[in-house]
Amino acid sequence: MRDYPKIVVRPPGPKARALVRKDEELISPSYVRFYPLAIEKGEGCILTDVDGNEYIDFNSGLVCLNVGHNHPTVVKAIKNQCDRYLHYSNTDFYYQEVVDLAGKLVEITPGSFDKKVFFGNSGTEAVEAAAKMAKWHTRKNQFVAFIGAFHGRTLGALALTASKPVQKRHFFPEMPGVTHVPYPYCYRCPFKLEFPECGYWCVDYIDDMVLSKYLPPENVAGIVFEPIQGEGGYVVPPSGYFQRLKKLADKYGLLLIDDEVQAGMGRSGKWFAIEHWKVEPDIVCIAKALASGLPLSATVARARVMDWEGGSHATTFGGNPLSCVAALAVIDIIKDERLLENVFRQGSYIMKRLVEIQDRSEILGDVRGKGLMIGAEIVQDRKLKKPGREEAAEIMTRCWRRGVLMITCGMSTLRIVPPLNITADLVVSALEIIEDVIIEVERERK
Ligand SMILES: Cc1ncc(COP(=O)(O)O)c(C=O)c1O
Repeated sequence: MRDYPKIVVRPPGPKARALVRKDEELISPSYVRFYPLAIEKGEGCILTDVDGNEYIDFNSGLVCLNVGHNHPTVVKAIKNQCDRYLHYSNTDFYYQEVVDLAGKLVEITPGSFDKKVFFGNSGTEAVEAAAKMAKWHTRKNQFVAFIGAFHGRTLGALALTASKPVQKRHFFPEMPGVTHVPYPYCYRCPFKLEFPECGYWCVDYIDDMVLSKYLPPENVAGIVFEPIQGEGGYVVPPSGYFQRLKKLADKYGLLLIDDEVQAGMGRSGKWFAIEHWKVEPDIVCIAKALASGLPLSATVARARVMDWEGGSHATTFGGNPLSCVAALAVIDIIKDERLLENVFRQGSYIMKRLVEIQDRSEILGDVRGKGLMIGAEIVQDRKLKKPGREEAAEIMTRCWRRGVLMITCGMSTLRIVPPLNITADLVVSALEIIEDVIIEVERERK
């Protein structure tokens, strides 16, 4: 018998509508709101709204709740820490929790070389730290980054971002020194080539057209990339891509700076998505799911790269003890509950089901992903591949109304990112709804 989702009032119900009205009066209008979902509580993979509707969470709180809502081990660790102390800036003094967490992060990040960790509070801060660290270490001030990338919204990270004009409009000048190059988005190849006949032209392009023509490689500190583009549309580079990018980086002595803010912490079925390509980056940026919803980021780098001097970079709350104990619990849970295996099992099932839906649907253009980081790109029709923006928004909204929480990314991609401990019955239930809604929206648009 199917237990979830349970929709008791058509969302948004009266309480949600009242909350949204208050929010609109008081809260910054700069936020992106996908639909009026107002949260009452979360448990495991189920989210309850203020009107009592219970949803299957295929969104994981913007990809932050990899171990689900309020995992009891996380909650217990936070409660215990509350009884001891809440804060004492690690930038100026010492405490155990931060050292314990750094030890674990050094173990689970790729590369068996010596590493050090800088703690911040958010993804954008992890990227700022990476960029500043790379500049300090190399004494170079240029970066290569990718079109479609999202690295955050502070002025340094924003300079590396190239996802949507609205994120940049009226905010120039940003940090100078970023050259954006095409990302390997094979479904919509920027060079209109086909993989593998293209011979990885998008890597050679960086060498032949950028570094050889106008960006002197000796001025470049590093290449900043997402191993799977998140906000840009859940774009997965082809096999072999990052190995070639590494060769290019080695040729010119550039640092590889891997932004795992969204793809890391087990989301792709490996601790860090870059491991799928067997490449060891010099710097790894981690945030979002690290502390199960508490603010925390980590920038993990080769020890020899993190050689900046005392006073050069710090932040008051970075590595606060509550977030650190939550993150320690998250790492233990992913290991103890063998969640990477579940990611593989449930991810494979979801991919298989989406491919079946694609057989029945002209508007499901592309299905791609690794583990439980899955994108379903909606198009107006499969041959022309014109982005189906309205269709994707309609599918997302109807799924929410029927009890499955998802949001979109890129131009028209549904992002499917349930908690890593999602159960098979919830996956089956959610996929039935997603299938019904896709077919329904397609039929109505004809
Ligand atoms: C890959 C990536 N990097 C950086 C960020 C910025 O993180 P935050 O919003 O915590 O600053 C995000 C946020 O979505 C992200 O997906």
